[in-house]
Amino acid sequence: MKKLLALVALALMTQPAHAEDAPKWSLAIHGGAGTLDPAQMTPEKRAAYEADLQRALDAGSKILAEGGAAMDAIKAAIIIMEDSPLFNAGKGAVFTWDGTNELDASIMDGRDRSAGAIAGVKTVKNPILLADTVRTQSEHVMLMGAGAEAFAVEKGFAATPPEYFATPARREALERLKAEKLSALHVDHKFGTVGAVALDQSGNMAAGTSTGGMTGKRWGRVGDAPLIGAGTYADNRACAVSATGWGEYFIRVGVAHEICARLRAFEEFKTIAEAEEELPVELTNGAPQRIADDVMADVAKLGGDGGVILVTPEGHAVFSFNTTGMYRGRATSAGVNEVAIFGGEEKASATPDH
Ligand code: GLY
Repeated sequence: MKKLLALVALALMTQPAHAEDAPKWSLAIHGGAGTLDPAQMTPEKRAAYEADLQRALDAGSKILAEGGAAMDAIKAAIIIMEDSPLFNAGKGAVFTWDGTNELDASIMDGRDRSAGAIAGVKTVKNPILLADTVRTQSEHVMLMGAGAEAFAVEKGFAATPPEYFATPARREALERLKAEKLSALHVDHKFGTVGAVALDQSGNMAAGTSTGGMTGKRWGRVGDAPLIGAGTYADNRACAVSATGWGEYFIRVGVAHEICARLRAFEEFKTIAEAEEELPVELTNGAPQRIADDVMADVAKLGGDGGVILVTPEGHAVFSFNTTGMYRGRATSAGVNEVAIFGGEEKASATPDH
């Protein structure tokens, strides 16, 4: 047993943590992962993406820094990305085969694992708010299509004209997909789904994800973003996760729940090991990154790609993606505040003591 614990400890070792330095809050956001080409990224384009990511990060951070709830922080961050035409969520969502924009979103509260989700909605400006209303004002978890829109009207959501969501770039992508008989992957070089995860000063976590799905989607196709356990999961005992990528693979792996389940099992293992003084806490800090990377490797093994963001009760704010880039950002009460696009651009460490 001793030898096994020592091996596990070594395998998980990255950098030492100091519990007393753990951030009081942390936040991570994403605006989609994908095959991003640095050569195509003009300084103007980069500045525009970074500015919107930073605005989203700042909106969520402000709430957390002032002692607000993780749930409010993720909604504030996601609304900014839904309102930006740069991301595939809300305004700027991709087009379906039929030339419409159909929106999916989900949200989960780590305190009680209450969850809400909507799929295939065409007239709600901020789908994340409707998902949250399903969570708080219905006895259901997921509503779809016309029914979800009727629920929205009943709950006082204004009907947004469909033209609001349409952008020329997304329409051109659909036209190219049809003209050149391409798959969505050829025109959606980045998936563009948005999401946020947060830990607040009370130790509560929340996760949310919002998307237009994939260009040219047909037959009522729904990806991972509105599926609790695939695109979104939050559990105060383990972590909060939001995913972006090729939804079919994230559904098959059950990515968001899989990461939380492995982290919860690790936490239980750690508690036993610490009681036996076999596993110094200093050696366990790499577990969230390792677990997220392992689950993303599993997605890749099946042929899928994309990425995840997660926060943990200790304040880790972790990214993991198997694409060339992921629009992303993170901020913590320990002073981390950064946005990044391509792989390896992070300046800060994911560990809470930095
Ligand atoms: N990850 C978004 C989708 O596949 O629809």
